[in-house]
Amino acid sequence: MRIDIITVLPEMLEGFVNESILARAQKKGLAEIHLHNLRDYTTDKWRRVDDYPYGGFAGMVMQCEPIDRAISALKAERNYDEVIFTSPDGEQFNQHVANDLSMLENIIILCGHYKGIDQRVRDHLITREISIGDYVLTGGELAAAVMADAIVRVVPGVIGDEQSALSDCFQDDMLSAPIYTRPADYKGWKVPDILLSGNEAKIKEWEMDQAMERTRRLRPDLLK
Ligand code: ADE
Repeated sequence: MRIDIITVLPEMLEGFVNESILARAQKKGLAEIHLHNLRDYTTDKWRRVDDYPYGGFAGMVMQCEPIDRAISALKAERNYDEVIFTSPDGEQFNQHVANDLSMLENIIILCGHYKGIDQRVRDHLITREISIGDYVLTGGELAAAVMADAIVRVVPGVIGDEQSALSDCFQDDMLSAPIYTRPADYKGWKVPDILLSGNEAKIKEWEMDQAMERTRRLRPDLLK
C-alpha cells in the first residue's frame, strides 16, 4: 500500500518514516510512505499556505488552493481510496480503522491544523476525518505518524509471524494476556507455573482467562 502525507512540517516526519516499522515495510516493498511539503504547492514567492479568517475571528486559516493543488497533483498520478484529514472532531481511530485502511491501495493523509483550515477543503476534498483521541494537538503530524504506524504494521508480512499482528491486543476487542521470558525466577518474582507446564491446552485456556480478566479490570468499555 501507499500513503501520501501532505504537511507543512515534512522534517517532523522524515526521521520517523525512514526509521521504525515503516522503514522495514518499505525495504520489504510492502508499503510506501511519501511526504509532501504543502508549501511546494503555493504560487506566491512567500510560499504562504494560510490567510486571515473571514468574520474577524482569531488565528490563521489554511487556504484551499495549495491543498487543492497538492491533492490534485497526487490524484493525477493514481487513484486514491481515501483522502483523510487529521482532526480531533473526526471519527475515533482504533485497531478496526487501522485494519480497514491497511487493506486499501492508496491513501492521502492531510495533516490539519484544527480550526485553522478552510471548511471548503473538508467539504469538497476530504473523504474521511479521523481523530487519534479526545485531546487537541498543535498539528496533525503526530496523528498522521500514529495512523501510518498502526496501518502499516498490520499489512501482511510487515511484522514476522513470530509476533503476528493478529495476536495484538485490541484485535479481538480485548487486551492481551501478560507475557514473560527467562529467567523463570528473578529475585523471587516468579513466572506463573502454568507457563512452564508444557500443557498447551491449559496454557491457551490460562491466556484467555488472563486476557478476559485484564480487559474487565482495565478496559471494561471494550466488552460492551
Ligand atoms: N489534530 C489536532 N488534534 C488531533 C487529534 N486529537 N487527532 C487527530 N488530529 C488532530
